[in-house]
Amino acid sequence: MPGDLRLTVVGNPDNRRVGLFTAAALAAGLPRPAVLPWVDVLTGAAPPPAGALVRVDSPGEDPEVDRLLRRTATPARHGELVGLADAYAGLVDGLGRVAAGGAELLNDPADVAALCDKRRCHALLHAAGVPVPAALPPVAGYAELRAAMAAAGWARVFVKPAHGSSAAGVIALAVGPGRVRAVTPIEVAGDGLFNSLRVRHYDDEATVAALVDRLAPQGLHVERWLPKAGLGERVVDLRVVVVAGRPTHAVVRASRGPMTNLHLGNARGDLAQVRAAAGPAAWAAAMETCARAAACFPRTLHVGVDLMFLLGWRRHAVAEVNAFGDLLPGVLADGRDTYAEQIHALTSGRWARWRATAEEAVACGA
Ligand SMILES: Nc1ncnc2c1ncn2[C@@H]1O[C@H](COP(=O)(O)OP(=O)(O)O)[C@@H](O)[C@H]1O
Ligand SMILES: [Mg+2]
Repeated sequence: MPGDLRLTVVGNPDNRRVGLFTAAALAAGLPRPAVLPWVDVLTGAAPPPAGALVRVDSPGEDPEVDRLLRRTATPARHGELVGLADAYAGLVDGLGRVAAGGAELLNDPADVAALCDKRRCHALLHAAGVPVPAALPPVAGYAELRAAMAAAGWARVFVKPAHGSSAAGVIALAVGPGRVRAVTPIEVAGDGLFNSLRVRHYDDEATVAALVDRLAPQGLHVERWLPKAGLGERVVDLRVVVVAGRPTHAVVRASRGPMTNLHLGNARGDLAQVRAAAGPAAWAAAMETCARAAACFPRTLHVGVDLMFLLGWRRHAVAEVNAFGDLLPGVLADGRDTYAEQIHALTSGRWARWRATAEEAVACGA
């Protein structure tokens, strides 16, 4: 019965997702979800939730939460690309604390831990037969990166911090005889690297090498740069939200540069146009891929799949799967936004069925 469903959200109270999820719960006639701030989880100020269904939201947008995750005395400077691996370790630890009360989590700690490590996520997807760009073995710095690119015969790669999100620290790197070009939102400022909202180019090899060398100790995932399909002047990809195994919501992200993340000034594209360009068979195959990608995280209610159609539209690949990728404001499917969809999955029994299937299925090629 909906009235019996007690929900708790672990998240920063001013996080937009927390507000939208709360609104969806109330609109469905459920009691107002309790909000357990990440700060209280990490300081131990609040006991872990017990006896409720627990939604875990991203801890990533609050400086004090970030400081606690990284276990440092001083907060990072705004946008600074530091301590990504430490923040990840803090997140994994925090998820353990949330789970310690024995409540049922809507985002399984092991799933979230895999999702927030691009190397592990890529390996899981690959093992499950989900199409992903080919990846290089681990590289510890720029010299190793160039050697691995040469060994693979690749001139273009995407260099991604293993624990990054929202294009933070991502570098699209193209190399040729005697020249390099890095396209990235990273701003090199004096003594640090900062994430910015503006994508820029670096053509000076010493600068590019320094960028990669500074990011590498925090963990890198390097993939072949695949040519994305385009509409008009822009390349596109999709964010597809999969709820309890079903791809329900999608937005098109259209960009003049190699990264499509919307906060970089890119535009939402026309979904109908993308579907028409792909055609029914390629579209259905892409949605099937999104469902299979989500099935690699079978104890988790929602994931956000970044899906790229490749040049020519016939083939596609998954760039990443996001644990906290359900913020698609204003996008409705069957009259429901992504949060109402999740509530619907909980109240209609779909979540329970998805969980039961997950328990049975031998997931991800195991
Ligand atoms: N291998 C790739 N080839 C081409 N484009 C890519 C590749 N990987 C990522 N991208 C583009 O870069 C963007 C950011 O990469 P993504 O893996 O989604 O990391 P983030 O967590 O920073 O969003 C994606 O939205 C996609 O458009
Ligand atoms: Mg992404």
